[in-house]
Amino acid sequence: MTAHRIALVPGDGIGQEVVPAAVRVIDHLAAQAGLDLTYEHFDLGADRYLRDGTTMPADVMARWNSGEFGAVMMGALGDPRVPSNIHARDILLGARFELDLFINLRPVRLLDPRYTPLKDKGPDDIDMVVFRENTEGLYTGIGGQFKKDTPDEVAIEAELNTRKGVERIIRAAFEYADRHGRPSVCMSDKSNAMRHGHDLWQRVFKAVAAEYPAIEALHLYVDVLCMELVRKPERFDVIVTNNLFGDIVTDLGAQLQGGIGLAASGNLHPGKVGLFEPVHGSAPDIAGKDLANPLAAILSAGMMLTYLGHPELEQRIQKAVQDVLASGAVTRELGGSLGTAAATDAVIEVLG
Ligand code: NAD
Ligand code: IPM
Ligand code: MN
Repeated sequence: MTAHRIALVPGDGIGQEVVPAAVRVIDHLAAQAGLDLTYEHFDLGADRYLRDGTTMPADVMARWNSGEFGAVMMGALGDPRVPSNIHARDILLGARFELDLFINLRPVRLLDPRYTPLKDKGPDDIDMVVFRENTEGLYTGIGGQFKKDTPDEVAIEAELNTRKGVERIIRAAFEYADRHGRPSVCMSDKSNAMRHGHDLWQRVFKAVAAEYPAIEALHLYVDVLCMELVRKPERFDVIVTNNLFGDIVTDLGAQLQGGIGLAASGNLHPGKVGLFEPVHGSAPDIAGKDLANPLAAILSAGMMLTYLGHPELEQRIQKAVQDVLASGAVTRELGGSLGTAAATDAVIEVLG
């Protein structure tokens, strides 16, 4: 029997609802497929921080980095009681940085035509994968504040772009396109305004693209990318961009595919532990009310199963999600009437 050990961090808000939902689905599949999935639950998040000041213990990070776990599954981190968001930075960004998970893989795939807000666009049009750089950019915290809380205050947030970092994410995007038969890669930056860092993206993109002559290399400034994603999403197969732009573009992408409750992601570095999480946050406005859509977490768990070597199980999850979307057995924000638990039951039922 194949065995995998998975670290679970439900985290804050609806993370506490959607991670258990995803676990129920993969346990159901594992029982059928003869997989032995075992879990260790990590009590990390706002409650823990407010209780004892702990954000991300160094020994936990070391264990995640040690190969003990095949994957980490996270819910969401963020809580209005912690306005500084320090725990989310230490846990979520901390894991991305310290585990060096440089690929934030965010598929944008419409599974059922009725859920996209775009007129006359269907599943064939909205089917792309975003490669978001995940270890540098504007997220490193490099910078500082000077003369804080005075009229002369200065705040600097520096954007870090390293040749190594830019090259490995661009290369990962081309490799993916090559392996999955995707005809084009679109790199998006703001090199018309950002002369240093994004010039590096331009030069590296051209150099890496030259190694993949069969794949079309497109470039769009990120403002135009946002426009084109809405106007003509069928133009896009693989998109590669920096950390901040990738964050923003994938919330836009989430809506194209039916809403933030359907957007899945994986934080990856081939050969290392993978961290899987829905794109959405902790949604404090609906937390604890059985309103959260569990499908993003369930699809993220599907991505995790592929990463663990079981792509056929991810396909079954995608098909099951497609079936519940088609039948309307979904949560309220998608026009259904089900709560989180019942929407999860519906997925398990169609899995058979
Ligand atoms: P959010 O994604 O939590 O919520 C945005 C809107 O989408 C809300 O109206 C919410 O109700 C809705 N929504 C989100 N997920 C949903 C789901 N599964 N089903 C139905 N509706 C859903 O974004 P926000 O409100 O900007 O952030 C809330 C907190 O979460 C903040 O602290 C933020 O920093 C954090 N956050 C964390 C992550 C993460 O851990 N990966 C991601 C995004 C935001
Ligand atoms: C995401 C989130 C995070 C990010 C926040 C919570 C720091 O929005 O995973 O998309 O910006 O990466
Ligand atoms: Mn985001």
